[in-house]
Amino acid sequence: MTSPAVEFARQNYPRFLDELKALLRIPSISTLPEHNSDCRKAAEVLVAELKRIGMENTRIIETEVHPLVYADWLHAPGKPTVLCYGHYDVQPTDPLDEWLTPPFEPTERDGNLYARGSADDKGQVWAQIKAIESLMVAHKGLPLNVRVLLEGDEEVGGEGIATYVATKPADLKCDFALISDTELFAPGLPTLCVGLRGMIYTELEVRGAKQDLHSGMYGGAAPNPFFALAEILTGLKDKNGHILIPGFYDDIIPPSPEELAAWKSLPFDEEHYRKTEVGSRELVGEAGFSVLERTWARPTLEVHGIPGGFVGAGAKTVIPAKALAKVSMRLVPGMTTAKAFSLYKNYVDLLKPAGVDVEVRLIHTGEPSLIRVDNPYIQAATTALHEVWGKDTVFIRSGGSIPIVGDFDRHLGAPSVMMGFGLPDDNIHAPNEKFHLKNFSLGIESLIRFMEEAGN
Ligand code: BES
Ligand code: MN
Ligand code: MN
Repeated sequence: MTSPAVEFARQNYPRFLDELKALLRIPSISTLPEHNSDCRKAAEVLVAELKRIGMENTRIIETEVHPLVYADWLHAPGKPTVLCYGHYDVQPTDPLDEWLTPPFEPTERDGNLYARGSADDKGQVWAQIKAIESLMVAHKGLPLNVRVLLEGDEEVGGEGIATYVATKPADLKCDFALISDTELFAPGLPTLCVGLRGMIYTELEVRGAKQDLHSGMYGGAAPNPFFALAEILTGLKDKNGHILIPGFYDDIIPPSPEELAAWKSLPFDEEHYRKTEVGSRELVGEAGFSVLERTWARPTLEVHGIPGGFVGAGAKTVIPAKALAKVSMRLVPGMTTAKAFSLYKNYVDLLKPAGVDVEVRLIHTGEPSLIRVDNPYIQAATTALHEVWGKDTVFIRSGGSIPIVGDFDRHLGAPSVMMGFGLPDDNIHAPNEKFHLKNFSLGIESLIRFMEEAGN
């Protein structure tokens, strides 16, 4: 027999989908200040909806940047308390001309819902809220105690929520966190994510002359900061993807032989991944490690952009006074952001060529996390997932970062259950982001059954 809450979700699915589309129409891009009011609007819509479905103490919590959304329902004495987490902020949409339909006009196509934020993470936030609504109606209350905490700064490092969790742990007392911001390993394959990489996001600014100079008059005498920057960048990593920062790899805790063996049995086709997901001629990276090891359990260093100098149409003969690079590193368990940043900064100073100054700025950080799986909530999750998807759950890690997961563990003592419903080809952070509609509906059902099991 299906649970009455699942029954309710099925009957109300068309409405749930319409409501999600309304949320997706709000361009809540956290990194662009011109969208600050859109971020607030998204937060207000979420607060109103949480209130409407019967959650209590619903409110906006101000942070230095975008507001948090909070709600709770704590009337299930003797039952565990879950902290539901997701983020309502989204990534920028550039390059805009590569979108087949506009990013903030949600469009259904081939069983998918296309829009910025559909999979990352508004579709998943909405799945959680709709699961709670369904439980609330069917149980006339909830089968366990529920807190909801949503953030609007995840895509820019999540400093606001980190401060809140660190300073107000008593307001978030819970037994476990439920994070819906990850993906299935493959379509139709129920998945729990048990590890995330951490990250440090930095800016490298190189300055040469006191101002931009005529490249004919001064070329040959004045230092060019772009060459200095290129020298530094190429000094950070070798051709095989090995990071050259001394001591960088020292503290890594490698995955256990059991975990590595489990990864080997996952349905992963490297050639398919290269062709359809990456779309490059070849894959790169450290020799001796599989793609899954390289993306889940090894640190990496990437350059995101090199703004500066002359980038207009045509030609301008100039030696720019400064050059900038946005550089981030992904960290794995055992590494800490503090140590990685200090090793990096010292090494950049060492690589700095004569004639220029370099400033290394830290933009944001998040520690890596590895989830404990020896708890009844993971057990409840696999039971629920088996029922909804008809398959055993696979445990994976992800190369992405969700900084707050480590903080939930450290400050609240709460293990996370990372039950997310994106797909590897959902194009998150890229043009034509989508959410597979089947994953939206089965995601809601999975979350309903999970909360029922966890409260059992
Ligand atoms: N939801 C992603 C992280 C993710 C992606 C987890 C894929 C699992 C699979 C999250 O929104 C994200 O993009 N995080 C940023 C965090 C950073 C800005 C601190 C990231 O990983 O770049
Ligand atoms: Mn996300
Ligand atoms: Mn993201």
